[in-house]
Amino acid sequence: MKIRIAIDGPAGTGKSTVAKKIAEKLGIDYLDTGAMYRAIAKIFLDRKLNPDEISEKTLEELFKEIKFDLKCEKLYLNGKPLGDEIRNPEVGKVVSKVASLKIVREKLTDIQKRLSENRSIVVEGRDIGTVVLPNAELKIFLTASATERAKRRFKELISKGLKISFQEVLDEILQRDKLDSSREVAPLKPAEDSIIINTDNLTIEQVVEKIFEILNSKFGRLVSINETNNCQ
Ligand code: DC
Repeated sequence: MKIRIAIDGPAGTGKSTVAKKIAEKLGIDYLDTGAMYRAIAKIFLDRKLNPDEISEKTLEELFKEIKFDLKCEKLYLNGKPLGDEIRNPEVGKVVSKVASLKIVREKLTDIQKRLSENRSIVVEGRDIGTVVLPNAELKIFLTASATERAKRRFKELISKGLKISFQEVLDEILQRDKLDSSREVAPLKPAEDSIIINTDNLTIEQVVEKIFEILNSKFGRLVSINETNNCQ
């Protein structure tokens, strides 16, 4: 049995950690689609491409040079594993803009569909249940209030030694929410058949537990479906 699990929601809901844990417990693959948008945004920065001015032709040419692979939960761009360079604040600042470009979304959606084919997988993003995997066997949409998400992000950044105020973090979250949910192509919104989980008062473990309860009631006991994952 192949099972594809879509996990969508805004930043700061614990989406990545939850998605990884579910994939790990089930022994199936994991795809972080945000990392792909970040990798493209990094290319824009490196090549000094302006998302407000880039032509369709340049984008088409750019994507001819790009090949993503997924091996054992790791994403590779042209043979090189994606690393922390895609998490730097400069990338964070331009990624929403880059992710709102129609051609970028079309190309990455096609690649994400291909990478999710014929395997059991947890795919994490913003438009997985609505656009990338509209027929996913399970769709989860994680939410949390902006204040709670800013608190989590603030804690994370402070623990990394960054000097930033809570207000700055909250403002960035609100700004990104606005851009991600108001863009014309594939705005951030739950699919009609997704199960919405508010994570405000839940730990990561509690969210994972809830998703496993849903999985078990939907598919019976899913002890292991690790037919694709030979990574250990
Ligand atoms: O999940 P993340 O914060 O790493 O995502 C980075 C950006 O990419 C974020 O601004 C939203 C965008 N994104 C998207 O538009 N669609 C996806 N499927 C995943 C991410």
